Amino acid sequence: MYERDDFTTILAGFRGGVEFDAPLDAVTSLRIGGPADALVTPADVDDVCHLVRRAAAARVPLMTLGGTNLLVKDGGVRGVVMRLSRLDAMTREEGACVCAEAGARMPALMGFAASQNLSGLEWAAGIPGTVGGAVVMNAGTRLGEMRDCLDAVRLATPDGGLVTRAAADLSFAYRHVDLPAGVVVGARLQLVPASRTHIETRAKDYLQYRKQTQPLSQPNAGSVFKNPPQAAAGRLIEDAGLKGCRVGDAQVSPRHANFLVNLGRARAADMLELIDKIQRDVFRRTGVRLELEWRVVGDDDAPRRRGTG
Ligand code: EPU
Repeated sequence: MYERDDFTTILAGFRGGVEFDAPLDAVTSLRIGGPADALVTPADVDDVCHLVRRAAAARVPLMTLGGTNLLVKDGGVRGVVMRLSRLDAMTREEGACVCAEAGARMPALMGFAASQNLSGLEWAAGIPGTVGGAVVMNAGTRLGEMRDCLDAVRLATPDGGLVTRAAADLSFAYRHVDLPAGVVVGARLQLVPASRTHIETRAKDYLQYRKQTQPLSQPNAGSVFKNPPQAAAGRLIEDAGLKGCRVGDAQVSPRHANFLVNLGRARAADMLELIDKIQRDVFRRTGVRLELEWRVVGDDDAPRRRGTG
């Protein structure tokens, strides 16, 4: 693991928040995860650029973490984990565009767009993720996805610079986009003028559907698996008789089978065992290999301090 002293050079002049040996269960929607060697919250985009450049130069791993759609393993994450929660500005641009910093929450952005009479993000109502997270995984639902409205992405590059890439030059796939190396710090979205009432009604209906069908009041990380072509992962898992199935405090939600919930003290190892069981059972029954939508990061085992053998 990296010790506090290893970060002295990287964090020289850093203006944001820093916490060493920081438990990540406090910042993940699943409420699971071991410690980060250093958890940092940059003050602004400049702070991100300096940190990205210094970490790259010192070859210290740097991970950006939104905290949703993510399973952090029990041993935690080595190096620097960066949260962009202070980068949450949203602005109206010329035409029917909005710009958002990467740490802005998707529902907040949807609300901001509605206040500007701009439609196109209603699918994001109640989705807990950040703009940056939604960009990097081309988040979406059957109502829409990021690629439908993304106009451009801004990234902090490993040399400490900033680049803007037009969405038209990026290659998108289902829950995936190929981005250049770097950290997404903002996005520009091309939306469509519409009445606020129309937008808010659509968003409300959609949120209502999610509340009825998904276990939103329990710690979860959104859909666990991508929907396979021509099928719904939730249906396949339910048909395999796995609703309610548990490993420790990790449970297949009785409400929606493509959600795993933390009943209290679930560990990442429990979640991974349950994921493995689901994949094996569904494959045995149907021949379909369910692919994870969650990102899984970190080490299996707790870090060892230097000198403790
Ligand atoms: N179904 C079952 N059993 C279940 C759950 C679902 O049979 O336990 C069936 C439903 O009856 C329906 C089908 O599966 O016929 C699809 O279910 P649902 O409408 O709930 O949508 P989904 O495909 O499971 C997707 C997104 C969600 C988004 C919802 C609503 C993916 C992987 N997931 O879920 O996005 O909220 O549509 O639009 O595309 C996320 O990605 O994290 C996420 C929450």
